[in-house]
Amino acid sequence: MSVFTKAVVGFTHAAPVRSVITKTTAGRRLAHRFVAGDTLTQAVTVARQLNDAGLLVSLDHLGEEVTDRPTALAARRDYLDCIDSIAAEGLDANISIKLTQLGLAFDPPLAAEAVSELAGKAREAGTTVTIDMEDSRFTAATVDLYATAQKEHGNLGLALQTYLYRTVEDLRRLAPLGGHLRLCKGAYVEPPDIAYQTRHEVSAAFAALLEELMAADKVRPAIATHDLALIDLAKSLGAGRTNFEFQMLYGVRTAVQKELAAQGFPMRVYVPFGSHWYPYLTRRLGERPANLGLFLRAFVGR
Ligand code: FDA
Repeated sequence: MSVFTKAVVGFTHAAPVRSVITKTTAGRRLAHRFVAGDTLTQAVTVARQLNDAGLLVSLDHLGEEVTDRPTALAARRDYLDCIDSIAAEGLDANISIKLTQLGLAFDPPLAAEAVSELAGKAREAGTTVTIDMEDSRFTAATVDLYATAQKEHGNLGLALQTYLYRTVEDLRRLAPLGGHLRLCKGAYVEPPDIAYQTRHEVSAAFAALLEELMAADKVRPAIATHDLALIDLAKSLGAGRTNFEFQMLYGVRTAVQKELAAQGFPMRVYVPFGSHWYPYLTRRLGERPANLGLFLRAFVGR
């Protein structure tokens, strides 16, 4: 993880900074570069526009690090509503969920029960559920929960972070289960005893894991990156293979998203929505130095 990312994380986690950004118009405007809106209705409108432009969607109802049962149950209900809307609107979309939003941090069986209910509902709606990967406190539990749920339901997917040393073993364990595996670099600050630290190392690990993923036959690879060199590599490794897709974040490299779709590649846009956007925004800021300028302008120009 770069020095820049660590500095951004430290700065944005300071309580006064969070307060200014979440409570001012400038802060909210900045968030809406990366977030579809506060409501499911707004997210559905964005998803419809993306589908009309030939892009697939994954809806993410923002929220994480939930510490009480009522909030975790409310998040589950919100996701059930989300699946209802996907079916009712005929959207070409699935959902992306975070297990700590569903209770993993304080009641793992509650999170497992939620995943099971969501996967069942998604199957009825003809869609799938992708589990995002959060920070390393939750990696082992997330991988285990995914493996159990995927064996039972068959319509799940999981994000794997190429910065973690353990990911190669996780990929080898999970690829035979089918489903879809989303390869991404990883967005959290992790220590050197468990994760690569430099951009070069993380990209090299991505390339090596991508090669393994593309060679695995049962799984649907999802290549989640805006890195053009890795996208080119995926295109060449995927030649002759039909069941893989690219994934990018809402608001990032939109021209490349459209270009890939126009070239005939399945291209899924990760569309976050909801009012708990601050942690998501801080990760997007940490990924690109230029975003910090936008953030500082929102902070001082409130
Ligand atoms: P990199 O950061 O090198 O970016 C390449 C180029 O893309 C940059 O030079 C810039 O032009 C552009 N770019 C990238 N990020 C940008 C930003 N925020 N704003 C503006 N431009 C930007 N992580 C995780 O830990 N768990 C998860 O579950 C997921 N899920 C996920 C889903 C999807 C669909 C995507 C695309 C990404 C994730 N991630 C994630 C985030 C991922 O781990 C990673 O942090 C970001 O994708 C940035 O890494 P890139 O591979 O894009 O490369």
